[in-house]
Amino acid sequence: MKRVEVIIDNQVLSVRQDIPLIQALREQGILLPSLCYHRLLGGYGSCGLCVVEIYTEAGWRPRHACLLQPEAGLQVKTNTPTVLRLRARAARLLLRRGPFPKKEVEELLGHLVQKGEKTCFEPDDKEAAARSRAGNPAPGCILCGLCVRICEKIRKSRLTFLGRGKNLQVSFVSAEEEAAACGSCKACQRICPTGFIEPSAREAFKARLYK
Ligand code: SF4
Ligand code: FES
Repeated sequence: MKRVEVIIDNQVLSVRQDIPLIQALREQGILLPSLCYHRLLGGYGSCGLCVVEIYTEAGWRPRHACLLQPEAGLQVKTNTPTVLRLRARAARLLLRRGPFPKKEVEELLGHLVQKGEKTCFEPDDKEAAARSRAGNPAPGCILCGLCVRICEKIRKSRLTFLGRGKNLQVSFVSAEEEAAACGSCKACQRICPTGFIEPSAREAFKARLYK
């Protein structure tokens, strides 16, 4: 397994090249916040929490660490005011999809909002947040796609995204076959970061069957 030297917050580290940067940093004890990444499924780029800044020809630019592959000489900053502000913004948007059954998700997001506000205060649009929460068809689901991807990975492919824009939701692919085909393996339930799939996938997605 090839390793490369990268510069993380001004410190030279040797990391694996064959895994996403977020995972390579985890293996070095550097934990970036994340909700849509899983080591078995790879990066997805939907939660926005793993943002870092990397040095490019055009200067420092924000990127999702779950979608970046380490390469020799890569320069990364994990804790700049820009990073904290972007994480806070992503966390605010995710909070609008709550409340979440797992309270630690609320705590993580609240903490990221607070950290961002300390470096660069951006007022929250409370009315937009309330409207967004009220119109959310599936409170508790952040659309991270982990359930859909794990279901596909284990070759069942019973879950899919349906709808567009604010009506986008996770659903079973077929109403008629769902009961026979779901199998209740609980893979989606175990991987869901927010606790939305409780007590079962059938329960969580039953109102959203594709016909
Ligand atoms: S149900 Fe859970 S795993 Fe599936 S998209 Fe929503 S938050 Fe992610
Ligand atoms: S973990 Fe990278 S965007 Fe969610």
